[in-house]
Amino acid sequence: MKILVTGGAGYIGSHTCVELIKDGWDVVVVDNLSNSSSEALQRVEAITGRTIEFHQADIRDKAALSKIFKTRSEMHHHVEPKNEEQNNTGNCSIDAVIHFAGLKAVGESVEMPLEYYSNNITGTLALLEVMREYGVKNLVFSSSATVYGDPHALPIKEDFPLSVTNPYGRTKLMIEEILKDLHVSDPSWNISILRYFNPVGAHKSGKIGEDPLGIPNNLLPYIAQVAVGRLPFLNVFGNDYNTVDGTGVRDFIHVSDLASGHTKALPKLFTNPGVVTYNLGTGRGHSVMELVRAFEKACGREIPFKIVPRRAGDIAACYADPSKAQKELDWKATRTVEKMCQDTWNWQSNNPTGFNKIHTG
Ligand code: NAD
Ligand code: UD1
Repeated sequence: MKILVTGGAGYIGSHTCVELIKDGWDVVVVDNLSNSSSEALQRVEAITGRTIEFHQADIRDKAALSKIFKTRSEMHHHVEPKNEEQNNTGNCSIDAVIHFAGLKAVGESVEMPLEYYSNNITGTLALLEVMREYGVKNLVFSSSATVYGDPHALPIKEDFPLSVTNPYGRTKLMIEEILKDLHVSDPSWNISILRYFNPVGAHKSGKIGEDPLGIPNNLLPYIAQVAVGRLPFLNVFGNDYNTVDGTGVRDFIHVSDLASGHTKALPKLFTNPGVVTYNLGTGRGHSVMELVRAFEKACGREIPFKIVPRRAGDIAACYADPSKAQKELDWKATRTVEKMCQDTWNWQSNNPTGFNKIHTG
């Protein structure tokens, strides 16, 4: 079975490609490389020993997407079309789409809302329209724990109230709603909405990992760049939260565990579940300082840090109740925080400048 992975050259997408290939799925990737490097896909090929069909295109480009969906069908069908849908339905070799493509930086989304709405919302609409045209109605969508806002209780369950405070989060929530509307209009769609907690770590080979452009926004890549000497010290955003040591608490999840959540979501899609939503997290919270200490152990170096004021928009603590995914997808995160730090260090120390893009930071 063939899976189209949008954003497959990115951090989570590349790790998911590895797991998909390992589990025997055929993978096609579409990515405009706006936040990634084709080198990531070459590394996936090196890890898996398989070649990947790659299309460099923007998901907002419906003509380019159509070509990808059309591949192979043209070789077998020469019948004159009655209408567009009839022409294409059933002719497509793609069985499902895993949709990672989008922009993801909260701060940047406040500065550039139109780019966020365009890439994330318009991009998703274009993808859905082309999927409908080709009768491909199985989708896994990357959502985020950000849709829970500041949760009223912990751990967070899927049926908690949703709220968002920035354009990035709004795109995730809007897309979730668009997907639900789509299913109401046509129940033959099957859609798995996966809400990720805090993805960190890297593939155990050290060949692929997170490679942010410029100065990282997120904690682990920042710590890793301090460890490797690219940045002088970590700013710890606040130590006066009501948490174990006053620093923020998050549900850090190894990216390879997250990736396997996607391979588990696929067979579920083929049971015609309609729209289903799952938290992908470990169920455990760790503080910023716990992460710093775990990373120091993994890399054998001291991580200099400064306590600075809280970052606007941050919440004190956030961690998942992942039991629904365990029960319904037979999926569970297994890798520890120590392993997450070891694998991040392995990646960062082997690739101090990432995939060797031109870094501005
Ligand atoms: P990433 O930036 O590494 O990957 C996204 C990929 O999509 C990149 O390769 C980028 O080039 C591509 N892309 C962006 N816009 C595109 C477009 N219009 N057309 C084609 N390709 C496009 O990010 P990631 O961390 O791998 O995140 C993947 C998905 O998971 C995103 O939707 C993100 O919002 C979501 N998510 C990420 C996190 C996280 O912490 N990393 C947390 C929750 C949700
Ligand atoms: C951020 C996003 C969230 C997104 C998630 C995963 C914000 C406000 N939220 O969440 O929407 O879904 O990433 O991509 O950006 N920290 C430091 N110093 C740093 C960086 C982070 O102390 O240099 C702290 C933060 O205050 C927080 C924790 O580390 O307590 C984790 O931060 P981060 O990795 O940015 O993730 P989130 O804030 O959880």
